Amino acid sequence: MTKRVFSGIQPSGTLTIGNYLGAMKNFVKLQGEADCLFCVVDLHAITVPQDPAALRENTINLAALYLAAGINPQQATLFVQSHVPAHAELGWILQCVVHYGELGRMTQFKDKSAQRDVVTAGLFTYPALMAADILLYQTDLVPVGEDQKQHLELTRDLAERFNQRYGETFVIPDVYIPKIGGRIMSLEDPTKKMSKSDASAGAYISMLDTPDVIRKKISRAVTDSGREVRFDKENKAAVSNLLTIYSLCANVSIAELEARYEGKGYGQFKKDLAEVVVSELEPIQARYRELLATGEILDVLRDGAERAAARAEATLKTVKERLGFVL
Ligand code: TYM
Repeated sequence: MTKRVFSGIQPSGTLTIGNYLGAMKNFVKLQGEADCLFCVVDLHAITVPQDPAALRENTINLAALYLAAGINPQQATLFVQSHVPAHAELGWILQCVVHYGELGRMTQFKDKSAQRDVVTAGLFTYPALMAADILLYQTDLVPVGEDQKQHLELTRDLAERFNQRYGETFVIPDVYIPKIGGRIMSLEDPTKKMSKSDASAGAYISMLDTPDVIRKKISRAVTDSGREVRFDKENKAAVSNLLTIYSLCANVSIAELEARYEGKGYGQFKKDLAEVVVSELEPIQARYRELLATGEILDVLRDGAERAAARAEATLKTVKERLGFVL
């Protein structure tokens, strides 16, 4: 049977090559072999303050980026989370299934809440909404980066708890984290995840950075002592991260890259890496600009929402019946 795949990305501004290599690039691969739904999760974005005009723009831009990266709306369903009200409804129901203690143990919540003076209840219950996104579509497989693993484990626990309490309702989803690229690290500090919220723009490559900016950031990226281009996460974390980026963008194995750069030092390696990243991103950027100019994106999203809603509502109806809601 064709597997059902669901994943989402927040429309909170720039996407980095971490988002791209850890998630979006795999979405494109999976759409040919599975029944895929990809979502712009705007309800998740508002768990922290958003400027309304920026949120509107970021939502359309993210949809354009999905398409530019290769998501084909004839093959996969691309939609905006808030266009399908079932997400918020099941999200609430799952807030009444998840335990306070479970939410408090989420490392992403601990990190994010530590960085802010005001923490919304939505930031705390965020994983229940994420579980709803996934479970509404009876998802088999969820492609994400490593940072979402704990949320996926919680999703499985909630699905099992609901099934046990009310009868078989949800498919228990598996997580799909790529063996390499599941955690792309900062270019300035390879012990930190690459993140768009990094205070220093030199730490990440945005998917929309110009070729010159990409070259500059890669030439300034930290390396390790020694001069060997070798994959060794423990002793050569920075070079290992660059090798990972190279391997995924050029579609060449890490072993082959190690052989290619034997005895060549970091200089040539970084120069070539910059060109590889530029040639991966440039065509995406060109398509992105074209797509935004056509104004077709809203049509794609409306169509996607209609298809997604039909499926989501079927699951939600069963959930409500099981709970004892009068329909
Ligand atoms: P978000 O928007 O923070 O990130 C989108 C995807 O990018 C991955 N990612 C990375 N992968 C590798 N290296 C990195 N440095 C890196 N940074 C980010 C993330 O793991 C993610 O896969 N909660 C989710 C969005 C979401 C979702 C869902 C995902 C909402 N509902 C349902 C899957 C299923 C998030 O905030 O991702």
